[in-house]
Formats: sequence, structure tokens, C-alpha cells
Amino acid sequence: MIEKIQNIQKIVNEFTPKNLEELEEFRLKYLSKKGEISALFNDFRFLSPEEKKVIGVEINKLKQTANEKINTLKASFVVNKDSKIDIDLSRPGDPLNLGTRHPLSIVRNEIISIFNRLGFIVSDGPEIEDDAHNFAKLNFPADHPARDMQDTFFISSDMNVLLRTHTSSVQAHEMSELPLPIRSLSPGRVYRNEAISARAHCLFHQIEGLYIDKNVSFADLKQTLDYFAKEMFGENTKIRLRPSYFPFTEPSAEVDVSCTLCKGEGCGVCKNTGWLEILGCGMIDPNVFISANIDPEIYTGYAFGMGIERITMLKYGIKDLRLFFENDIRFLEQFTAVY
Ligand code: DAH
Repeated sequence: MIEKIQNIQKIVNEFTPKNLEELEEFRLKYLSKKGEISALFNDFRFLSPEEKKVIGVEINKLKQTANEKINTLKASFVVNKDSKIDIDLSRPGDPLNLGTRHPLSIVRNEIISIFNRLGFIVSDGPEIEDDAHNFAKLNFPADHPARDMQDTFFISSDMNVLLRTHTSSVQAHEMSELPLPIRSLSPGRVYRNEAISARAHCLFHQIEGLYIDKNVSFADLKQTLDYFAKEMFGENTKIRLRPSYFPFTEPSAEVDVSCTLCKGEGCGVCKNTGWLEILGCGMIDPNVFISANIDPEIYTGYAFGMGIERITMLKYGIKDLRLFFENDIRFLEQFTAVY
């Protein structure tokens, strides 16, 4: 009988069905009520008690391995039948789509990289500010109309805590907290209570530049901005400075670059002027130095501030500011970052 069991065990071990039908045939032949393994149990009855001990174990082992084999084979046939594609582990994997950087991040990084080459470091300041750093220390007198122009979001009812309206607020921190000389760039979010449109948003991004040392002159400022414009918009780009007013700089200027589209000839984008405004700048007002305990007789400095959205729109010909905030993948995928 042992021999019979071993023979069937061998058949079970070597059995490799091609499909579910063959497997079922095999199951009926060996494991159904009238199957060969069940028949072994019938013969078992006539054995002596000693033989039963040994053979019983063997028959049970055979039955168990046969059942297990049938079940695993059945499972593998069912999986392959349900999945329409055969699993081929040698096939290459599906490509993973890498994300792209947001256009504002690309341009911010590019601006930082240009000024890094001139020795500017990056510094950070809080988005929730007090009146002192956003206004007072920057020479905005109380009740001065320039405060109204900034459409401030106030947080506290006494109007002392607010969302910063410009990154110039970082200057006020740096001047009283960092050792001189300072040459820094401060990128970040700013907030203004403005209706959202193609040209304005209540949240946008600025970069503030600050350089304080002995003997810093307006010529240094102009040269630095000329270098920036050429690096950012191309080597044939020209800049022009128009006199302007900011409370924290004196003299102040607004800077235009020659139109990135028509190269200064005049077109719809530059409203036929040939020029596009990109930033505000000036020499730091002595009052700002005094409020930071810096002696304006010893130190001079310049500052400039630009909107990252504005620079990005000019660089890529984007006409609607809202695109930056909508996270439409069709818009974002068009930007492949170098930076
Ligand atoms: N803070 C100004 C604004 O938000 C931009 C600016 C102008 C910054 C002149 C400066 C500056 O540092 O000198 O419109």
C-alpha cells in the first residue's frame, strides 16, 4: 500500500496542467469521493492497528499536498484569466511623470541666482507684521496717504498687526538685527486688499533687494539693475530710470526695461512706448537709517523691490495673473525648470 501512496504522490508532484479543465479532471480522478486517494481510505479499514498508524499518516499527507497543489494552481489560473494582460516581469515599468516647478518659483530662483553672483544673500522675514516694520520704520508717517495706497489687511482691531503689504518690511528687520555691511535679497508673499482681476491679486510675491555699506552710490544701484535686466531678459535689454516717490528712499526711481516683445519698437504689450515697468528703487532715506540706529553720515545704501508675478508675465508673455494661482496642470506643465 505504501508503494501505491508513493506512486500517487509522485504523480501529484509532477502534475502540470495547462488549464482549469485539466486541473478539474485531475481533482476528480484523485480527490473526488470515488477518486484514487479516497479509495486508499477504503483499503485502510482492512489494515492492522500497527499498519494503520504508519499508513494513516502517509495517506493524510498525500491528501493534504494534493489539495494544496490543486488550490494554488486554481488560484493562479483564475488570476491570469481575469487580468487581460499576461504579467511579463521583463517589461519596462510605466514612466513616472515628474512634477514641474511653478513658474513663479522658476523666476524667483533665477532672480536669486543672478543676484547671488553679485554677492547677495537670501534672507527671510515674517508675513504677519506690526505697523513698525511694515510702515513706521520705513518712514511712513502716521496718517500719511502712502499707507492708504497699500490696501492693508489688518489683523488686530488697533491696526497694529497686519499682513505685510511689501517685502520692504524685511529691510526694517535686517537693518536693526544684522551686522553691517548688508547685501541681501528677500523673496516672499505679500498681501493687499485688492479685487482679483487679470492684473491684480490679494496675494502676490515680491523680492526686495538691500545693499548697505560705506560709499554705496546711485551709480552702483543703476549698474546692478542694468546687469540684472540683461541677465534676466537678454543682453540687448536696456533700462531707464524715471524719478518717483517712495517714503523709504530718496531719491526714488521706477525702472523700465526695453519691451521684451518688440525690443523697444512699440507694440500692444508696451502700449507703444517701447518700455515696461519692472521695479521700484532708490537710495535709502536717512530717516530709515536713523530708525534702525545706523548713522546716515557713515553709511549709505540702496534698495529695490520687484513683483515676481510681473517679471514672470513679462518673461513668458502671460496675460492673466490669475493663472498663477489656479493650479491648472495644463498651464503649469508648460514650464520646465532649469532652476
Ligand atoms: N515696496 C515697494 C512696493 O511694494 C517697492 C519698492 C520700491 C521697494 C522702492 C523698494 C524701493 O525697496 O526702494 O511697491
